[in-house]
Amino acid sequence: MAAEQSSIHGLWRNRWLFILAATGSAVGLGNIWKFPYITGENGGGAFVLVYLFCICLIGLPVMVAEVMLGRAGRQSPINTMTAVAKDLRLHRDWAGIGWMGAIAGFLILSFYSVIAGWALSYIFKMGGGAFEGATAESSGEIFGALLANPGELLTWHTIFMVLTIAVVARGVNAGLEKAIRILMPLLFVLLIMLLGYALSTDGFDQGFSFLFNFDASKLTGESVVVALGHAFFTLSLGLGAIMAYGAYMPSDVSIGKTVLAVGVLDTVVALAAGLAIFPIVFANGMEPGAGPGLLFQTLPLAFSQMPAGTVFGTLFFILVAFAAWSSSISLAEPVVAWAVESKGVSRIKAGAWVGFSAWILGIGTVLSFNHWSDVTFMGKTFFDSLDFLTANIMLPLGGLMIAVFVGWKMKEADVMAEVKMSNPVLFEAWRLILKYVAPVGIAFVLWNGLQ
Ligand code: PHE
Repeated sequence: MAAEQSSIHGLWRNRWLFILAATGSAVGLGNIWKFPYITGENGGGAFVLVYLFCICLIGLPVMVAEVMLGRAGRQSPINTMTAVAKDLRLHRDWAGIGWMGAIAGFLILSFYSVIAGWALSYIFKMGGGAFEGATAESSGEIFGALLANPGELLTWHTIFMVLTIAVVARGVNAGLEKAIRILMPLLFVLLIMLLGYALSTDGFDQGFSFLFNFDASKLTGESVVVALGHAFFTLSLGLGAIMAYGAYMPSDVSIGKTVLAVGVLDTVVALAAGLAIFPIVFANGMEPGAGPGLLFQTLPLAFSQMPAGTVFGTLFFILVAFAAWSSSISLAEPVVAWAVESKGVSRIKAGAWVGFSAWILGIGTVLSFNHWSDVTFMGKTFFDSLDFLTANIMLPLGGLMIAVFVGWKMKEADVMAEVKMSNPVLFEAWRLILKYVAPVGIAFVLWNGLQ
């Protein structure tokens, strides 16, 4: 096995900085925007339960494997997979895990930036008082007007993409690490405040039971696919983002505990977002299944009814934008790191190319909400199709291959030495999950749900 102690891109200074970076990657639009709206679309409690199940039983074990692979290879996911496979004298096609991941990351980045752009625009809408005295109707209208305006969407998409690439081009340590350290805790505080507000509305009980009441009749094959896909999406798994971050992890850190911390934080933020949003939905007679606009229509309403709501609301969308920012850099990192290693280009050049191409593709997402809203493929717009293809198919497949690779192809002794799990029972359980539970579970869900 490669026993590199360092990577050409640098290392996190300690375990906490890895946790911070990985949490920055994991906690993003997936938690605050996507989780509530897909929960709404998929009927609530049963979906949430399946999602939690997927996180614990498949997500976290695969995350440990992915971080471990990254640290064993110490390069971009594509080159890490090539190197580790070569060490084990396996076919170089295993590098396909890295390639598929890099492509998925690139595709996600293209639409992620558009949605993050919504949050950016909301900073100014909120700050400018657009939502003062808002009603469910007026807040829906403001959101509708944003979607109907491709020029505005494109502007914010452009700004967000530039912000993302500016950080990736500099390397991660220098910029974002510091900001996240302050901003993430602040995001938590604001979410708790919103929760407090939600608790005081009439809709709290209804919102709570919507999230946590298990009604199996609401589950369809597709909603299980969406739950599994979201477990991957929210943990940033299956595409090499976490592998790339693992490559910069100091050698002596125990991976299991670290990953657990990231998983718990990520889940708490998602549940808090759900608990803050659904009571507002019910108290105002809104639709839980409203789709991607859910967050952008409910929260302004909540803030408009709170004292100093304009200030807090503005702050909240700033934090959403930051959470998205710290995630989007990890989407670009695998491709950029690969270009630096293999094409000998500078980070700046690599970043510019990746950013520019993802920006172009993002125009398709911009148009899906207006001019192309009727252009559908199997009932899905361009944005919906990209989202479905990446989160629900590519990421779980990436996870499946990672599980098979670590579970079946790597030598147990090597795995044990790299992962540094001190508890032998846990180690064995983890290996069994990677060998059987994760691959079979993922294959089963995909096979059933995609018929
Ligand atoms: N986990 C991020 C979120 O929840 C999205 C993401 C997916 C980031 C995959 C990196 C890789 O918003």
